[in-house]
Amino acid sequence: MKKVLVIGGAGYVGCVLVEGLLAKGYSVRVLDRLFFGREPARSFLDRVELVVEDMRAFEPEHVRDCGAVINIGGLSNDPTAEFDPRANEEMNTHASIRVAEVAKAAGVPRLVYASTASIYDRGVGEQSRDVLLDEDAVVEPRAAYATSKLAAEREILAMADESFAPVSFRQGTVFGFSPRMRYDLVVNTFVKDALDGGMLHVFYGGEMWRPLIDVKDVARAYVIALECDAELIRGQVYNLARENFRISELALRSQLALRAIGVPAELDADYAPRMIRSYRISSEKVEKILGFRSQVSVEESIGHMVKEIRARGLTDFTHPRYYNIEWMKLLEESVRIVSRHGYVLSKPGWGNRPGERSPTEGG
Ligand SMILES: NC(=O)c1ccc[n+]([C@@H]2O[C@H](COP(=O)([O-])OP(=O)(O)OC[C@H]3O[C@@H](n4cnc5c(N)ncnc54)[C@H](O)[C@@H]3O)[C@@H](O)[C@H]2O)c1
Repeated sequence: MKKVLVIGGAGYVGCVLVEGLLAKGYSVRVLDRLFFGREPARSFLDRVELVVEDMRAFEPEHVRDCGAVINIGGLSNDPTAEFDPRANEEMNTHASIRVAEVAKAAGVPRLVYASTASIYDRGVGEQSRDVLLDEDAVVEPRAAYATSKLAAEREILAMADESFAPVSFRQGTVFGFSPRMRYDLVVNTFVKDALDGGMLHVFYGGEMWRPLIDVKDVARAYVIALECDAELIRGQVYNLARENFRISELALRSQLALRAIGVPAELDADYAPRMIRSYRISSEKVEKILGFRSQVSVEESIGHMVKEIRARGLTDFTHPRYYNIEWMKLLEESVRIVSRHGYVLSKPGWGNRPGERSPTEGG
């Protein structure tokens, strides 16, 4: 196998995926504009080719010598998509389609696209439609994020032909430890809540369903897509989850798993009405056709997360970097404040030469 291009390789899934690809002997090019900095990717940056670029400026040179592209870049949840719907559409739809077009034109034989199971969202209260949904279910997403993902998925899969095998994984909500940690994903939020005050907050009684999968299992599914017979993925959609849980059950299981490793936590539930997403999916197709078997349960993942969070000191739980929407808002505000001068406190170059003073020095 030649080189794999991972777009968004410095993100939450990316940091785990890239380590997995390197361990399996792939050579990896990461294209990422590093919204979350270099630090999370530090352990592998000297072993990959890093292209710091916006995926909206994607060019043929980015796929040179690549045998596959894995596109996990762009905005990755509802709040960030709603914060800037235009940027969301540019990245998640238009840029993702262009990446596939460029890859196909360059003769790259495979492309993996990270779609989302949230395109199945039915909301709570629609009992007659509250069933396990497979890849043939009618989907009518309303939210900006899911709509942008579905639009890209349709265009990308339509490009399939004998020389190009694109595949889309409609992933459930991911959980588990990554060096680029996110505490805005439900299981990770429970772990953070428990470590940071011992209270797991459950909204709307936890009635809503969610499909869930560990981040290492997601990486494993992508590797299968790189290595299987191309006919099995050509133009295909695969749902990807280990299990579906109501959030209420997930909270109870998380509470028990945390208690078992000495992290006690109480449950706090409310029934305040709000916009609730709810959906559950069947992962039978990925199991039957690709032979995918998830390996990590919620309970195992929680144990691993607590260990890693503590060992690496990722316990500054209120830092915006762990919450995509908080971080994006902060970056946007910083740009507005800083762009006129291009620096915050020390201007680059000032004070480098003996006797030189910065204009802010008195005298
Ligand atoms: N995490 C989940 O629960 C989940 C569930 C379903 C689908 N997905 C999809 O999986 C993919 C990865 O999710 P994640 O949790 O790792 O997200 P993430 O936000 O942690 O990572 C996204 C990465 O993409 C990079 N990126 C964003 N916009 C970019 C741009 N314009 N140009 C270049 N790089 C850019 C970011 O810098 C970041 O490193 C996303 O496509 C997401 O929509 C994630």
